[in-house]
Amino acid sequence: MLKNKLVVGNWKVHFTVPESTVAIEKLKKSLGTVKKVEIVICPGFLDIYPASAELIDTNLVLGAQNVFQKEEGAYTGEVSVVALAHFVKYVLVGHSERRLLFSESDRVIAQKAAVVVAHGLTPIICVGETLHEKEDGLSKIVVVNQVEAALSHLTALEIENIVIAYEPVWAIGSGQLCQVSDAEKMAQDLRNVIKALYGEKAAKGVRILYGGSVDQKNAKSFAQSKTLDGVLVGGASLDHKAFVEIVKEFESKKK
Ligand code: 13P
Repeated sequence: MLKNKLVVGNWKVHFTVPESTVAIEKLKKSLGTVKKVEIVICPGFLDIYPASAELIDTNLVLGAQNVFQKEEGAYTGEVSVVALAHFVKYVLVGHSERRLLFSESDRVIAQKAAVVVAHGLTPIICVGETLHEKEDGLSKIVVVNQVEAALSHLTALEIENIVIAYEPVWAIGSGQLCQVSDAEKMAQDLRNVIKALYGEKAAKGVRILYGGSVDQKNAKSFAQSKTLDGVLVGGASLDHKAFVEIVKEFESKKK
């Protein structure tokens, strides 16, 4: 089955609730006619509830930027998948900022991916090597290990429907874009590993995105890729014009 391309905006820690309402209003106006691309916005937790009402009957869906690995309990300050499940379809899991700044381990990321799937949501599992790892020639081994660990609690059938985002850490927010051919090579390596571990259906079904310094100027080359299933956009998703242009690059491409 052909799946639509996916363009995901990760707003990170930007926008107050009123600001996010304005941004969503602009996106709705500009993207109402888009049909072939699945558009996902990941605002901050506080914005999710009002945004969910604003997005009813639109072609935009919501994602969360993080989730706690347990469903409920005495975990002050965390956000449960049970609460999120009413409002979002996707959840970013294991973003490199969570791994590096909040010490999220592969073990915790695997638990998060599993709890997200168990509640009928789709994890967007983020993986990527640091600059040091890239310079040491370790990109493939690092990323493959991250993926193997993150998928360890999922079945082949579940993996068929998840999303993986290859986001090299050195490309995030740096303006240093990964070559499309390198991102495609990594995506192919990941599919090969998934095929070996979980079978062909899982390898074909899983969607693999690229993220890291994607903007309206370079989006076209990713939109044209036959190997990549879309992009995960940080900074450029905060500028509604830039984000709309990125989505439209994907909309105008045939799969
Ligand atoms: P930038 O697009 O700002 O590089 O961020 C990428 C990212 O981290 C998306 O999750």
